[in-house]
Amino acid sequence: MIFKEIKYDVKAVMQRDPAARNFLEVLLLYQGVHALIFHRFAHRLYRKKHFFTARLISQISRFITHIEIHPGAKIGRGILIDHGAGVVIGETAVVGDGCTIYQGVTLGGVGVKKGKRHPTLGKNVTVGAGAKILGSFEVGDNCTIAANAVLLKPLANDITAAGVPAKPVKIAGVAVEKKGVQCDLFNMEDNIEDLQRRVALLEGMEKKLKRNSKTIFNKQRQRQLKFLRK
Ligand SMILES: CC(C)(COP(=O)(O)OP(=O)(O)OC[C@H]1O[C@@H](n2cnc3c(N)ncnc32)[C@H](O)[C@@H]1OP(=O)(O)O)[C@@H](O)C(=O)NCCC(=O)NCCS
Repeated sequence: MIFKEIKYDVKAVMQRDPAARNFLEVLLLYQGVHALIFHRFAHRLYRKKHFFTARLISQISRFITHIEIHPGAKIGRGILIDHGAGVVIGETAVVGDGCTIYQGVTLGGVGVKKGKRHPTLGKNVTVGAGAKILGSFEVGDNCTIAANAVLLKPLANDITAAGVPAKPVKIAGVAVEKKGVQCDLFNMEDNIEDLQRRVALLEGMEKKLKRNSKTIFNKQRQRQLKFLRK
């Protein structure tokens, strides 16, 4: 199983790094691949609750590769950690299949609380050099986080986000409008909740209006009947 995963990682480098020449070269000379090999073993030990040995392996890996992946982090298949120096991946981070991570990237937390506190990356996410993704939220499939961006909020699928704090600049490759739309695209769940709240409010108002119009109608009718009786 581990060897299969290593094979996928080497193949990912060969597919996505134009400088990579052959399987053996990548296996022997790419520190990103070495960090992933160490991590695959460390993660197995972590899952079997051999926390000290797992952490020891990850620290040795950090010493050799300058890439720090906590043994608890869940890393998918076919990952490319290019150059790698300065990459930090936290304990509860999740990295989906096919992601690309450049040097200086942090998948970190923002507080001292225990539990899930690091980001979850979907499939085929690219995180540019020096980018920081901080907090426990999801980044959708096929997203790209620009170099040096600081992402603090979730992203739906197919979004390119840039800047500090990072904001969507493209959706499925198409530039987003500068005003209005971009902030709404950050968190689809919040938007849906907001819409549901508004619909509930409107429904409540509609019921009230119906009730009021009924009473008004009844009063008018009574007045008319009174008038006729006279
Ligand atoms: C994010 C990225 C993928 C954008 O590429 P793209 O799809 O071609 O998009 P564009 O270049 O058209 O940029 C779209 C907008 O985002 C802005 N932008 C792009 N990268 C940015 C960055 N790192 N920081 C801030 N803004 C950025 C552009 O200026 C542009 O804004 P504008 O519309 O106001 O002119 C690319 O800029 C990037 O950062 N890639 C990371 C690569 C990397 O880390 N390589 C390391 C190799 S060692």
